[in-house]
Amino acid sequence: MNLWPYPFWIAHRGAGKLAPENTLAAFKLGASYGYRAFECDVKLSRDGVPFLLHDADLKRTTGQHGIASDRNWNELSTLDAGGWHSPSYAGEPLPTLETIARFCIQGGHCLNIEIKPTPGDEAKTGQEVASAAARLWSGQSAPLLSSFQVPALVAAQRSAPGLPRALLLDKLEAGWLQTALDLQCVAVVARHNLFEETMMSELKATKLQALAYTVNDADTAKRLQSLGLAGLITDSVDRFIPDRSV
Ligand code: G3P
Ligand code: MG
Repeated sequence: MNLWPYPFWIAHRGAGKLAPENTLAAFKLGASYGYRAFECDVKLSRDGVPFLLHDADLKRTTGQHGIASDRNWNELSTLDAGGWHSPSYAGEPLPTLETIARFCIQGGHCLNIEIKPTPGDEAKTGQEVASAAARLWSGQSAPLLSSFQVPALVAAQRSAPGLPRALLLDKLEAGWLQTALDLQCVAVVARHNLFEETMMSELKATKLQALAYTVNDADTAKRLQSLGLAGLITDSVDRFIPDRSV
């Protein structure tokens, strides 16, 4: 536990409830609340540029029709990814991973990059995002690469074996722990309600750390902290003060 390099509190999608998720504005807002660690979702444009977006489809956060990865970055870079959230954020662009890397490195922030492939692009996304991350953070505090998609993590491991990995879990299927160990992960990041004593003792028998998403109420946070989790990913950056315990 002592060697775990990441802060306990991690702002989800930048700070993606109070500001438009997965935008630089969300990261700036999270930092203004004192957050020093962030999670974001990264996928590839048609021409292979890693950029931040949660959904495969553009509709919810840009109002555009169609699949984001069908478009080249020069087109994606002109879209409004902030106006859907509130008028004050209108015109906020989709950021590249490079933009976010620069922000995090300059500010001394930690990043958890969730590799969020467009379905069908798992291995390519894992490979490209990991190699971009290794290049962007070379010599700096390494980002944590996580994914629900095992093929993306396999490709990330091949592409940038030195970057730490985490297996994301939204349910506990047979073999989850072995999968994380086979991938030489440093952590599992699971839906908060999956954590209980048995799961924690299985994890404690390994060197894997435990992180939970998305924790937005104090009772849940207290329960997870007392179970021994190493980190919590939250939308509620205005509720949880990041350098204090719950
Ligand atoms: O990485 C944790 C969390 O972000 C996973 O779920 O859907 O919010 O990307 P989602
Ligand atoms: Mg995510």
